[in-house]
Amino acid sequence: MKATCLFLLALLTTAAPALAQKKKTVATADQKMNTFINALMSKMTVDEKIGQLNLLTGGEATTGSAVSTNVEAKIKNGQVGGIFSLTTPARIRKAQEIAVNHTRLKIPIIFGQDVIHGYKTTFPIPLALSCTWDLPMIQQTARIAATEATADGLNWTFSPMVDISRDPRWGRISEGSGEDTYLGSQIAKAMVRGYQGDDLSKYNTMMACVKHFALYGAAEAGRDYNTTDMSLDRMYNDYLPPYKAAIDGGAGSVMTSFNDINGVPATANKWLMTDVLRKQWGFKGFVVTDYTAVNELIDHGLGDLQTVSALSLNAGVEMDMVGEGFLTTLKKSLKEGRVKQQQIDQACRLVLEAKYKLGLFEDPFRYCNEERAKTEILKPEHLKYAREVAGQSFVLLKNENQTLPLKKAGTVALIGPLANTGANMPGTWSVNSDLANTKSLLESMTALVGNQVKILHSLGSNLVEDTAYQQRATMFGRDIPRDNRPEEEIIKEAVSIAKKSDVVLAALGESSEMTGEASSRTNLEIPDVQKRLLHALLKTGKPVVLVLFSGRPLVLNWENENVPAILNVWFGGTEAGAAITDVLFGDVNPSGKLTATFPQNVGQIPLYYSHKNTGRPLQEGKWFSKFRSNYLDVSNDPLYPFGYGLSYTTFEYSNLSLSSKALKSGGSITASISVKNTGSREGKEVVQLYIQDLVGSSTRPVKQLKGFQKISLDPGEAKTLTFKITEEDLKFYNTNLKFAAEPGDFKVYIGGNSRDVTASQFTLMK
Ligand code: BGC
Repeated sequence: MKATCLFLLALLTTAAPALAQKKKTVATADQKMNTFINALMSKMTVDEKIGQLNLLTGGEATTGSAVSTNVEAKIKNGQVGGIFSLTTPARIRKAQEIAVNHTRLKIPIIFGQDVIHGYKTTFPIPLALSCTWDLPMIQQTARIAATEATADGLNWTFSPMVDISRDPRWGRISEGSGEDTYLGSQIAKAMVRGYQGDDLSKYNTMMACVKHFALYGAAEAGRDYNTTDMSLDRMYNDYLPPYKAAIDGGAGSVMTSFNDINGVPATANKWLMTDVLRKQWGFKGFVVTDYTAVNELIDHGLGDLQTVSALSLNAGVEMDMVGEGFLTTLKKSLKEGRVKQQQIDQACRLVLEAKYKLGLFEDPFRYCNEERAKTEILKPEHLKYAREVAGQSFVLLKNENQTLPLKKAGTVALIGPLANTGANMPGTWSVNSDLANTKSLLESMTALVGNQVKILHSLGSNLVEDTAYQQRATMFGRDIPRDNRPEEEIIKEAVSIAKKSDVVLAALGESSEMTGEASSRTNLEIPDVQKRLLHALLKTGKPVVLVLFSGRPLVLNWENENVPAILNVWFGGTEAGAAITDVLFGDVNPSGKLTATFPQNVGQIPLYYSHKNTGRPLQEGKWFSKFRSNYLDVSNDPLYPFGYGLSYTTFEYSNLSLSSKALKSGGSITASISVKNTGSREGKEVVQLYIQDLVGSSTRPVKQLKGFQKISLDPGEAKTLTFKITEEDLKFYNTNLKFAAEPGDFKVYIGGNSRDVTASQFTLMK
């Protein structure tokens, strides 16, 4: 194979990228790349250029009705730039061999996949990962994912998904980092770094694809793929920064979103793809559409396939995923003057540049190493890390009378539809996950503490009452056993087991397919049939722990009032069962903090901590007054606020102080706070800093996260933490979209969540 490439390079008579030259300046490297690509493109026909813009699916995991056909023949015809959803070095090698041996110009293919939260070693779903608030840890999960995925032949991942969402009805809130702009931006950067490292051409790094550009998480009514209509203020200040952070962090590609944005769907939105992305942010990589998103512009009502394909290319999109609108219509559009040669050239160039940066022209088989696939996937240290990460992602929502941790003695009843289903542990978008070897909670618990604790189990209830709903909620091999006996019988059996135990663990909530893409819900409570089981278990008088599986904030008022302990375990990945056991039995002290607000009811949505004030805010100490901004039936408060999460120990915050009450332009001040572990065991705490701009030329949120530190404290230990505050932290986009800080008064809040904080104040001087 090497010979083929050497031949290609010789053919092009240009300087090939050689390892020794990598140390040279970026400018020189760019020049070399340009020379190489210019030479290559001078030999390409229009058809070959358009072929580079075509992304097909290998069909292993698909999210649309259209699936690519005749892939091999299309590769041979030079009609394929990339393939996704095809794995294993052997299959990828086969496709690559066709590209580099049987096409005229021997241009290698780029191989993508949705490697979202780990590869075969699967980490917690992204929403859960964000609850660790541990950036190096999140980066490392992406690093491990890239190591495994590249060992299996892949070089491009459709991650990170950085869509801010403040609507838990939207199933894809599980795939992002929650509601916060600042945290979301930090995580976006960390993930890009984890995937790409500092050299994309290395055999174990892969190109990131930031998605879904843009504003996908603000779909109206939380219904997937729905319209987004948003002010520029909200876009620039709240929703766009994480995409920009990923791009500033060097992400090589961007994926368009499916949704309409203020009247123009993202995939045809020139303002977004060219003005914002390229001109304002200076993005240099390529843009790929989401799955058949070009074709979907027809349903959006923008015209026929030829029209929408031209619209999309003209908007600034380079690669067309699966739909083949570019492949089948762009040449005609070129002849008719609906697109320009220069646009096709530019798109082709950007795709080729990505391949060049990945080192594919140097060695198209760089990522196809069967030995690595055997030794680097599901390595024991990866699994060990997955267990550690999962343990830190769980959020302890309630723990009355120290119900948790449990003693490793006596009898435990583990009951519920999610207690014994390994396939549901990895969560949404875990297409490569090692499902066959993923243990259920029951299996892990038995393996880890089964010698000390007697574990009794029964299903207790079905996932949902309605069989058709259960079918929708257990797709893609994520089955949950269904018991067709009358409900009373199933509950009776569970209750009799509960009565024989010292403590009941109720493993309830959502299945993994009740979350993620196309899994929007309007009712965010635990399904009624499971709640009836919970009622019955509580009635036994035994202490009950709700082990809650979910991919989104749920509505848990009743549970919060009636169940003594609630541990939210999301979907924790390959090692979830072990990690849950670690936390339940106290080997790991929970430290996760929510990154999305839990509402009291669906009617409050969107509910998020960094909202604006109104002209009629609540009166101090009251949750309702007539002619104030509130509801008649429920307070404005969340059930659990952003940043919230308990520990088996307690922390006390004191002595918030500022180094100065005046911040000079260009200068800095520090805020310091003392945090003490007042409990009896070591614990981790995420100390959060929020700022409020008290007066602005436009309205400002009541609080915005601007810093955080995750610390570990021994019992009785206290630490003083300092946070540096500079003018940069106070900047925002004003109504003219100027990014600047405005002199005036600011409040600083520090605490263990967004609600329970202590405050101080300073002034930004003119
Ligand atoms: C999803 C993307 C994903 C793509 C390819 C789409 O349905 O929206 O997030 O990357 O499919 O699998």
